[in-house]
Amino acid sequence: MKGLVKSLNNIKGTTRVCGLIGNPVGHSISPVIHNTLADLMGIDLVYTTFKVEDDQVEAAVKGAYALDILGMNVTVPHKQAVMRSLKEIDPLAEAIGAVNTLARVDGGYKGYNTDILGLARELEEENVCIKDNPVLIIGAGGAARAIAFLCASRGASSVTVINRTVEKAQNIAGAVNGYYGIDLVKAVSIDQALDLKGDGYVAIQTTSVGLYPDVDNVLIKDENFYRKVGAGVDIIYNPYTTRFMKILGEQGKPAYNGLKMLLYQGVAAFEIWNNCSVSKDMADRVYESMKEAMGINE
Ligand code: ATR
Repeated sequence: MKGLVKSLNNIKGTTRVCGLIGNPVGHSISPVIHNTLADLMGIDLVYTTFKVEDDQVEAAVKGAYALDILGMNVTVPHKQAVMRSLKEIDPLAEAIGAVNTLARVDGGYKGYNTDILGLARELEEENVCIKDNPVLIIGAGGAARAIAFLCASRGASSVTVINRTVEKAQNIAGAVNGYYGIDLVKAVSIDQALDLKGDGYVAIQTTSVGLYPDVDNVLIKDENFYRKVGAGVDIIYNPYTTRFMKILGEQGKPAYNGLKMLLYQGVAAFEIWNNCSVSKDMADRVYESMKEAMGINE
């Protein structure tokens, strides 16, 4: 694998350790992101994965601190539970209610949500503008909740959360509106979404519908719905081009997958840990390494 040039000879007594805690972690692409970045930027760091059981999250965080581990990523199912074991939490991560990055501070770790920073950076790079635009969030799980906070913080003109279970969409609307003291986010059922007025929506697909191997599936099948959409992002990246993206593409609309969100959540964590700035050129090279590691040829 070209991107992964770290050999055991590169690991020295001074090498700092970072890693991912979650369960499972065996298929994670994060080691490719961070080890490639460390190599490209000449930073003396190695990144690996740590499988952590549900009842060991606190012990893992304490142990990591004791072992002088520089930083950690956190993945499913520990993104909420880990919050109880932190010294500090970034306000946006606190509001979202999920942490995926831990940075070492005096006496413990500070938690951040770089998933959302990753999506923000992808949107910026692809020129998908949230500010002053109406947004549709499809789904109402953890990712949708974080994205609703992002949209509110970036000045969307409206945010509509569409979900099969409308109560979950209402919970997100209540949380975001309550946090910002505004009446911006509303919740609708899938049927109601078909009757939405307006056009030029930015649509962000957050459900697992369409994820490999269910690649021909999409939550909203009615093509008329997509006529109201100006640009779309599917946070799924396997398949590389989802059914949701294909429908938008057939209507001549730009549509992006979630691979750059994954890239940039890693880049943002790497920048926090190392107090550095990763250039676009470096990020592009990491993106190529990720695609190579995942066997994507597009
Ligand atoms: P995450 O935390 O990754 O966002 P999640 O919390 O499991 O994931 O949320 C999954 C989302 O996909 C939910 O919005 C879920 O809808 P419900 O809240 O109604 O369960 C949606 N989803 C998953 N499978 C679905 C299906 N077959 N049909 C409709 N919605 C589905």
